[in-house]
Amino acid sequence: MSALELVKQYSQTALAQLPGPAQALLAKPLTQKALAVLLALGVLRSLNSSLSQWTLNNWTSNQRWQPAHEIILLTGGCSGIGKQVMEDLAKTGVRVVILDINEPNFKLPANVSFYRADITSSANIAEVAKAIRSDHGEPTVLINNAGVGHDGTILEEPEAKIRQTFEVNTISHFLMVKEFLPAMIKANHGHIVTIASMASFVGIGEMADYCGSKASALAFHESLRQELKTWYNAPAVRTSIIHPMWVRTPMIKLLTDHESHFRQPIMTVQTVSDAICKQILTQNSGQVILPKSQTAASLVRAMPTWMQEGIRTIASGSLRRLRDVQKQGL
Ligand SMILES: NC(=O)c1ccc[n+]([C@@H]2O[C@H](COP(=O)([O-])OP(=O)(O)OC[C@H]3O[C@@H](n4cnc5c(N)ncnc54)[C@H](O)[C@@H]3O)[C@@H](O)[C@H]2O)c1
Repeated sequence: MSALELVKQYSQTALAQLPGPAQALLAKPLTQKALAVLLALGVLRSLNSSLSQWTLNNWTSNQRWQPAHEIILLTGGCSGIGKQVMEDLAKTGVRVVILDINEPNFKLPANVSFYRADITSSANIAEVAKAIRSDHGEPTVLINNAGVGHDGTILEEPEAKIRQTFEVNTISHFLMVKEFLPAMIKANHGHIVTIASMASFVGIGEMADYCGSKASALAFHESLRQELKTWYNAPAVRTSIIHPMWVRTPMIKLLTDHESHFRQPIMTVQTVSDAICKQILTQNSGQVILPKSQTAASLVRAMPTWMQEGIRTIASGSLRRLRDVQKQGL
């Protein structure tokens, strides 16, 4: 008996178990057409996602994840998202090295080491890199997570803060990659993870520098992928970018302090860390937008202008209302 006949026979047996009205509904040609369309859409969806995954992995298969052979270098590991990622990765037994401008105010797990560094300084990075190499070896995963965010409109925000936002959120990615990517290219093994933001896709009021820095981080990630594949012949070096919406961390304290006046969802650091760790432990490249319900955000710039502007106006409106509340001291 052919496989098709087997499926047919099985479906008929299963159909016979259903109540009469359900059988009648399923026998209707319109229902059968609708089911066929749903099935076709499901197959297309899964084909699309497999195609994207293979393309992002440059058609190379994943090597087996061996914690003993990996060293994870994480910037900004002393607070918020970075701290959670550090804890979650450390639990898997892999060695984690964190770089932060601030000392940790908590006890580090045994397999985690801390180095103090300002990642906007290439001299400081080079100095710390020397110590990391001699203490642990060459990092195989780099998570560019450290970031800053300041309040204020373009006219209000001081030049020094605007420059710092770009230095930490974008330029440091160039500096860290210059220092640590060559060894990954040589081994054709490694992973560069960029922590961007939903702000990569929409420019909103009082966040012009932050949105600019995160749109730049996305451009950096896309260009890096091309260089790895086409210039450096290192197709197995993975690249991932994570775009979280609001996350409950010290960075957005001003916002969470007045949360009752802010109607947008705020995620936990655990949700974001789970997504980051998944990329690393499966060794898959990817673009992850969080929460998943906001995946369409990457399409904003493909929308008609009136829709794009509507989305930016709604997002800016929420922040503007919050500022008014803060000013009134509510
Ligand atoms: N919190 C959010 O709502 C949110 C949303 C989307 C994306 N992000 C991004 O997630 C990342 C982590 O942010 P977070 O919310 O955990 O913030 P956080 O303020 O809790 O942590 C940021 C860490 O970066 C470190 N850091 C800052 N400047 C540094 C420098 N020059 N050198 C070394 N370390 C430095 C800080 O000391 C701190 O430990 C950032 O890139 C941020 O832009 C945050």
